[in-house]
Amino acid sequence: MDIVYWTVGRDDLTTDAGSALPFEKFLTSYEIERLSYLRFPKRRAEWLLGRWTIKYLLRHSIPAFNGWQPGLVQVKNEPEGMPYLENTGKQTPLPANISISHRDHYAFCAITGSAPLKIGVDIELIESRPPSFLEDFFTQNEYQQGLSFQGYQRDVWFTLIWSLKESVLKALGKGLRLDTRCVEVRDIGVVLPLKTAGAAQWFNARVVYEGEPDVQWCAWWRKQDRFVYTLAARLPDAHTTPQLQEVPANLEE
Ligand SMILES: CC(C)(COP(=O)(O)OP(=O)(O)OC[C@H]1O[C@@H](n2cnc3c(N)ncnc32)[C@H](O)[C@@H]1OP(=O)(O)O)[C@@H](O)C(=O)NCCC(=O)NCCS
Repeated sequence: MDIVYWTVGRDDLTTDAGSALPFEKFLTSYEIERLSYLRFPKRRAEWLLGRWTIKYLLRHSIPAFNGWQPGLVQVKNEPEGMPYLENTGKQTPLPANISISHRDHYAFCAITGSAPLKIGVDIELIESRPPSFLEDFFTQNEYQQGLSFQGYQRDVWFTLIWSLKESVLKALGKGLRLDTRCVEVRDIGVVLPLKTAGAAQWFNARVVYEGEPDVQWCAWWRKQDRFVYTLAARLPDAHTTPQLQEVPANLEE
């Protein structure tokens, strides 16, 4: 069975002046140069945390890469932004698919060693969005369902649906270049509001991408504290549902 490993890295050390993580230790010279082009402290900090977290996940997940030191691998991005891992010495892509998302000192990352499995992740802060945003970026079904909730539950709904869309669009390698309405969330697998006991567990959602209506997707979501986390995997033909496996992150390592 295919496994999708995931983790959440947390940048406890970030300051307004930038990240205090000892980034020289885990960046390659290519990455140090990339970092030098990033001017804004917030962007530098989230970019760094994403790199630290995905490299941590790599060496604690797929057996072939266990113990790989951060300098042996570097994160590059396809022209449209999709990240991938490269063997620093050989300058060849690693046989692993990854996805990165960051928000408010957290980085949510996933990796799979199953090459045909395209994955996307997203972390979103639960917050209210203006009516014009809701009208523009959601399908009629999603919008109408969302309006049936009030207050905080409405915010949870729209944040969650938005995040699932982003995860699918990331797995497609396109991000917001595609219209968010081309992905429809048909079912979130549970009825809102969530009971406290149900929080922080993964639920299955059903999503459809209208560009490939016959392709199967697996999508998961969880709500924890102020955030929703979503993960989407595009299943190649006849693939069974992958298993999610958490890798707890430890900044000390
Ligand atoms: C991908 C995208 C949806 C992420 O938006 P976001 O919620 O602000 O940011 P997140 O933290 O969740 O994700 C950022 C990560 O997504 C990944 N990403 C970027 N473009 C991607 C793409 N086309 N496919 C898959 N993943 C992508 C990157 O790893 C990025 O992190 P990094 O820059 O540190 O490597 C958005 O940036 C996007 O669509 N970008 C491409 C199109 C674009 O630039 N449009 C202009 C704005 S509308």
